[in-house]
Amino acid sequence: MRRVLGDLALPLLRALAPERAHRAAIRALALMPASAPAQSDPALAVEAFGLKFPNPLGLAAGFDKNAEAVDGALSLGFGFVEVGTLTPRPQAGNPQPRLFRLDEDQAIVNRMGFNNCGHSDALARLARRKGRAIVGVNIGPNKDASDRTADFVAGVKTFADVADYLTINISSPNTPGLRDLQQGEALDALIARVIDARDAGRSRPPLLVKIAPDVTLAELDAIVAVARKRRIDGMIVSNTTLARPANLQSRHANETGGLSGRPLFEASTALLAQTFRRVERQFPLIGVGGIEDADTAMAKIEAGASLVQIYTGFVMRGARVIDDILEGLAERVKARGVGSIGALVGTAAR
Ligand SMILES: Cc1cc2nc3c(=O)[nH]c(=O)nc-3n(C[C@H](O)[C@H](O)[C@H](O)COP(=O)(O)O)c2cc1C
Repeated sequence: MRRVLGDLALPLLRALAPERAHRAAIRALALMPASAPAQSDPALAVEAFGLKFPNPLGLAAGFDKNAEAVDGALSLGFGFVEVGTLTPRPQAGNPQPRLFRLDEDQAIVNRMGFNNCGHSDALARLARRKGRAIVGVNIGPNKDASDRTADFVAGVKTFADVADYLTINISSPNTPGLRDLQQGEALDALIARVIDARDAGRSRPPLLVKIAPDVTLAELDAIVAVARKRRIDGMIVSNTTLARPANLQSRHANETGGLSGRPLFEASTALLAQTFRRVERQFPLIGVGGIEDADTAMAKIEAGASLVQIYTGFVMRGARVIDDILEGLAERVKARGVGSIGALVGTAAR
């Protein structure tokens, strides 16, 4: 099945409109027979946020928004899967077309707008899962929420018992005003309430904050200060960018929305290194943005990521990118003469 998805299905999926191709991929993964998650090289095991990851490569949020394909994705070899973004009530998202493949640039522009099935559907699916592999739940507010913080709090309460970690998404460019929550005071107030909600529950999963690549260094100073003060468990760097590098070739380059994939790599990796320096190992980071092979994954780790995630590179290259990255990382760990991938975290961030 892995080979089928990797080799045969990819050209077929490419022939479909992007959103139909995505639905087809989710359906195929949802139909995969449940099997034990693939075995990883022990040198790739990572301990972070009190969790033991078999390898550092995760499927980024937004691919399996509704938690329909978690076990299929895990059996492809991912070390963890992040579902969502999930909002309290189901939401249709923006009108189509809203997903554009920039093949010439190995990139995607999307303005999906948090289309998702809502909390209760996803909760039911996650509660039925028997697997023990790591699943993070990414939460956000409904577009028409009168109190966004209340929507985040609802997400924490709803998913605390089924999520291995929770991600507070304040960085999607497609929900108007959401990114304003990255400003120091607004973030502090949000995090305080979210942590109270988490700590009032039984399970108390780790809480991560996912940021945009477009924040200034002054804004990053304030974000990290809040994260450290409130003892956030980790940060994810980064979401998609509103920026458009000058050299994009695709006719879709100027579509409204967030850009991901190869053209995002440099900016998101630079911001990751800046974040790593400010965090001073108080908590681990997840690096995401433009990973497409072992070299780009390794660069994220050296810039300060304990774990990495991929979305666009997986869409562009298919499931074989997972083995490529994991084998390449294991080779690099051995070539450096260290026992484990953790020894390489942040070695290039200074
Ligand atoms: C179509 C699409 C939908 C996405 N939806 C979400 C989402 O719902 N929540 C979120 O936090 N990130 C979302 N992302 C962002 C990814 O998780 C990731 O941060 C970003 O794409 C950069 O990684 P990449 O270059 O490997 O794609 C989405 C990305 C794409 C391409």
